[in-house]
Amino acid sequence: MPLPSPRRPEENCPLCPRLADFRVANRRALPDGHNAPVASFGPLDAALLIVGLAPGLHGANFTGRPFTGDWAGDMLYPALLRFGFALGNYGERADDGLQLRKCRITNAVRCVPPQNKPSPAEIAACRDYLVAEIAAMPDLRAILCLGRIAHDSTVRALGEKLSTRPFGHGAAHRLSERGLTLYDSYHCSRYNTNTGVLTPPMFDAVFDAIKNDLSII
Ligand code: URA
Repeated sequence: MPLPSPRRPEENCPLCPRLADFRVANRRALPDGHNAPVASFGPLDAALLIVGLAPGLHGANFTGRPFTGDWAGDMLYPALLRFGFALGNYGERADDGLQLRKCRITNAVRCVPPQNKPSPAEIAACRDYLVAEIAAMPDLRAILCLGRIAHDSTVRALGEKLSTRPFGHGAAHRLSERGLTLYDSYHCSRYNTNTGVLTPPMFDAVFDAIKNDLSII
């Protein structure tokens, strides 16, 4: 029997007035785009959940699939293919046929924010959907947070304290009571990759650790 889908924001989600206004403007400016909250991608019975920040305007917001068409996706999806968490080819569009394997991708904020910067209130408003996402994954054993905002929102979603679970690239926070490990990586954004804050070997090392820990692929 298929697993029940987690609650997700409606197409015209009104929770964040600024993001709702931006959505209306984007529907006019980019009429061929998705321009709505971007749903998570991948199977609910996955062992790994990857949490990004928010859709990019011309990427996930346009294509309707997390990280798809975004600069960050050009680093993330090839890594998932290399490590066996994806099958097929990444074609920068939602209908490229790429499939995720043992892995699901979501965002801390489901709607595109102006300048890629959601406010603390917007991150908090979207957190219930992250809570629902985590609760809907019965085989979840690892969460990879891309960047500090994803990390902080995920730690809060799990009811953990940020003071005892600080963000750090390469960190692995064992939440033994939950049978879950929270991994951190710098976000694979254009800024971080262009400035060398995050290099491909650094990103691969995080996936290596996850893959070794999970030993499922
Ligand atoms: N695209 C997404 O969907 N999420 C990010 O965090 C960055 C780009």
